[in-house]
Amino acid sequence: MLPRDTGKTDYISLNINDPGTYLKPSRSLWRKWNQMSRFQRNVFWFLVITILLILFYLLPGDTKNIILEDTNDYVNGKVIEVTSKVDKAQEEVVVVVDSENQGVGPGGGGEVIEEPEFQPEINQVDDDQINEPPQPKPNAVVFHGPQNDRQKAIVRAFKHSWDGYVKYAWGHDNVKPISRGYHEWFGLGLTIVDALDTMYIMGLGEEFKRARSWIEENLVFHNNRDVNLFEVTIRVLGGLLSAYHLSGDKIFLDKAIDLGDRMMPAFSTRSGVPYSDVNLGTKSAHHPKWGPDSSTSEVTSIQLEFRELSRITGQPRFEAAVSKVSEHVHNLDKYDGLVPIFINANTGLFREYATITLGARGDSYYEYLLKQWVQTGRTIDYLRDDYVAGIQGTQKHLVRRTAKDKYLFIAELIGASRDMKPKMDHLTCYLPGTLALGVHNGLPAEHMDFAKELTRTCYQTHLIQPTFLAPEITYFNVQDSDIEERESQMDMYIKTTDAHNLLRPEFIESLFYMWYFTGNKTYQDWGWLIFQGFENYTKVENGYTSIGNVRNPQNTRPRDMTESFWFGETLKYFYLLFDDTRQLINLDRWVFNSEGHPLPVHES
Ligand SMILES: *[C@@H]1O[C@H](CO)[C@@H](O)[C@H](O)[C@H]1NC(C)=O
Ligand SMILES: *[C@@H]1O[C@H](CO)[C@@H](O)[C@H](O)[C@H]1NC(C)=O
Repeated sequence: MLPRDTGKTDYISLNINDPGTYLKPSRSLWRKWNQMSRFQRNVFWFLVITILLILFYLLPGDTKNIILEDTNDYVNGKVIEVTSKVDKAQEEVVVVVDSENQGVGPGGGGEVIEEPEFQPEINQVDDDQINEPPQPKPNAVVFHGPQNDRQKAIVRAFKHSWDGYVKYAWGHDNVKPISRGYHEWFGLGLTIVDALDTMYIMGLGEEFKRARSWIEENLVFHNNRDVNLFEVTIRVLGGLLSAYHLSGDKIFLDKAIDLGDRMMPAFSTRSGVPYSDVNLGTKSAHHPKWGPDSSTSEVTSIQLEFRELSRITGQPRFEAAVSKVSEHVHNLDKYDGLVPIFINANTGLFREYATITLGARGDSYYEYLLKQWVQTGRTIDYLRDDYVAGIQGTQKHLVRRTAKDKYLFIAELIGASRDMKPKMDHLTCYLPGTLALGVHNGLPAEHMDFAKELTRTCYQTHLIQPTFLAPEITYFNVQDSDIEERESQMDMYIKTTDAHNLLRPEFIESLFYMWYFTGNKTYQDWGWLIFQGFENYTKVENGYTSIGNVRNPQNTRPRDMTESFWFGETLKYFYLLFDDTRQLINLDRWVFNSEGHPLPVHES
């Protein structure tokens, strides 16, 4: 059923909404009016009256359509206001992209105004364009800032961290809060882009405005530099699209289109499975340096963002490219729904005996099956089926319990013999949230029991540490021994090389979903305790830092690094977890990408 919209035009109408462009057309219109002869003016009035009469005649039949067609130049199609229609009714007015329009782009009418290649310079309004009505901005979603003490504490933590970034790393990817320096990865101001929607949701207007100016003036994608397709998609493309949908500010959309364009060469492979690396300046793509394969989770976790880019611009090519990848992976042989973590971009085949895991390089394959299905209004059956198969395969082959307290965890399978390795990445703790989202959307109710048990285990990985912070990787004891011996055993243990904590969001994300869907305050309380862990052991004078050791409060080995997901995800999910109303972001209307950026749910 995909790609969609293939019959539609490839064109998009773009105008920059800076104040100057609004004034100019009206002034020159007035000038033209004054230059008209009396006869011309009479003809004009005659036409206006005739049109009004025709409109009036047609009006009772279909009022809405006529009016909407007239103001058809919304960038993201028709925009409607939703008040308390939705079940988790929001008090304030929330504006969503009307999915009736199914992402048909500018007004759905496909009016051809400008060339498909996006060029910021051509958007200045000139005299040829004065007949176009000024483009209305979609309304913004309204947030009211923190509503309780816990949310206020999260906002304080955000500001503390943000201030350090502003002071010592402004415009760079990451702040190094201890040495007061910065770290550059892609040179795309990652922290700013990742933090945009968090600031918007927290009601940090000044900070948001400043970030917005930086985006407008300094965020460029033409540098000759390799970037990782997946990371830039979920962080930058996702961040920009989310900021656009929440704020209605078109600058974010303009940047997203430019970026999306420049990433497209990654898909020019024989199989359509993208290369992992793409140079945004030269628009060329290639394998990662470490080998011929791409990570399975990376090539299957870019679909939400590219699809949204198509829906919003009316250009089907973005969605077509990523849907092709999903369909391709759908047709590959799997191990009871489970996938190896590497895939070759040229052959399009899995590396057969690569590890199977729901942790690093595997995780968001499963997440995006479900979320794509949700994003497209639960209309694409194979996505749901592959997701359910993946969860079944997980339960069949990967779920294990510890010897002593019977904690459920998700193991890994290694190599051709598929040996079980009793180890779980902290990354895997995203899964309870995804499971809960699936159950809410009508998937098997047993998934909720699975989610609750895994939540308990992930909480335990925090609880057993004196810092209350989980390590990157936990090992589990599954040896069956006699009862006495078992009493003295530990269920979980950590290797020195895995004892770090990077301020990761995955478990906080799951706590948010569990709280959102159950209303059980225990999840909030667990989150609050973990937040104390971050406060006590990762906070430094100029922000919050990754640490090398969660096992010893006296020797945490600070790493002098704040990842951008701390701003984009961890603090955002904390803030949403402490939203007592559970209505800030409606999960029937929005779907979070893998970097915590909410995108609209469509009807198909
Ligand atoms: C809330 O969740 C906790 C942890 O899973 C559980 O022990 C408790 O029974 C739950 N409370 C209710 C009211 O369901
Ligand atoms: C953090 O510090 C506070 C104040 O010293 C203390 O009460 C709390 O137990 C600590 N929490 C953690 C998780 O270390």
